[in-house]
Amino acid sequence: MSAADQVQLENFSSIFSLEGKVAVVTGGSRGLGLHAASGLLQAGCSKVYITSRKPSACETAVSALNALPTKRPGAQAISIPADSSSLTEIERLVTEVSKTTDHIDILFANAGATWGETFEKFPESGFGKVMDLNVKSVFFTIQKFFPLLSAAATRDDPSRVIITGSVAGITLGSLGENATFSYSASKAAVLHMAKNLAIELGPRHVLVNAIAPGLYPSKMANGLIELQGGVKDLEEASPNKRLGKPEDIAGLVVFLASRAASHLNGSVITTDGGSHLKGKM
Ligand SMILES: NC(=O)c1ccc[n+]([C@@H]2O[C@H](COP(=O)([O-])OP(=O)(O)OC[C@H]3O[C@@H](n4cnc5c(N)ncnc54)[C@H](OP(=O)(O)O)[C@@H]3O)[C@@H](O)[C@H]2O)c1
Repeated sequence: MSAADQVQLENFSSIFSLEGKVAVVTGGSRGLGLHAASGLLQAGCSKVYITSRKPSACETAVSALNALPTKRPGAQAISIPADSSSLTEIERLVTEVSKTTDHIDILFANAGATWGETFEKFPESGFGKVMDLNVKSVFFTIQKFFPLLSAAATRDDPSRVIITGSVAGITLGSLGENATFSYSASKAAVLHMAKNLAIELGPRHVLVNAIAPGLYPSKMANGLIELQGGVKDLEEASPNKRLGKPEDIAGLVVFLASRAASHLNGSVITTDGGSHLKGKM
C-alpha cells in the first residue's frame, strides 16, 4: 500500500454530516434533549421529532428549533407530546411518527427523572417512578421504534440508538439529605442495558450506545447543583474547571449519530470533564 493510499479517506468532509436523517428525541422539550435536537438539525437532519409530556413545552421547543437560522433548509422539528412512562403512550407516539415518515435513523432515548430523599424516608413511589421511566421505558421505546429504526438501516449505514445514562450510574450519585438511590441504580441499569441491546440489535443494523453526562445545568440538575455548593464550587472541583454546556451534548450526540461513530456499538461515553475519575458526579 502506497503512502498516497494510506492517507486517502473517502468523503471525509461529510463524516459528521447527518444530511437528510430522521431523528426522534424523547425528553426533547428542554435540557439535554433540546440541546441535542438543536445539534441534530444543524448537522443536517431533515426531521427531528420532539416528545415530552407537556404539549405546550413541546410546541415552544419546536418553534425555537424551527426558527434556527443554521438548520438545513426545509428541515423540520415536529412536536408529538407523549408520556414515555406509559406503554400505550409509547405506542401512540410510534403511530404518530409513522404518519409522516417510513423510517427513523436516530433515536435519542433521553427522557428521565430523579428523586431525592434520605435513606430512612425514601418512598416506594420514588423508586418505582424513576426505575420505570429511566430503564423500563427506555427499553420499550427502543422495542416499539425498532421497526422504524430498522426499515432503512444497512450494515454500512446503520441506525443509531443513543441512551442517556449518567456518571451517577458509574460513580456514586448524591447521598445524604438528597440521596438519589433509585436514580443511580436506574442509570447503572440503563448503561448495562445499552450493552445488551448493542449485541442484540447490532446484527440487525441498529447500533446502541450510551452517554453518561456529569452535571449540566438544567431543570433537573439545578437543585442538585445548588445542594452541592453551586456552579462556582463545582467548576473549581472539576478537572477541566467547568460544568457541561449545551454544545457538549449536541456535539456528542451528533458524533454518535454520524458516520464517524459507525463502528461504535455498546460504548458508554462519559461527558463530565473527567469528574467521575475523582469519584464525583
Ligand atoms: N442535567 C444533568 O446534569 C444530567 C446529568 C446526567 C444525566 N442526565 C440525564 O439527562 C436526561 C435529561 O435530563 P435534563 O437534565 O435535560 O432534565 P430536564 O431539563 O428536567 O428535562 C427532562 C425532559 O424529560 C421530559 N420528561 C420527563 N418525564 C417524562 C415522561 N414521563 N415522558 C416524556 N418526557 C418526560 C421533560 O419534559 P416534560 O416535563 O414535558 O415531560 C423534559 O423534556 C435525563 O435522562 C437525565 O437523567 C442529566
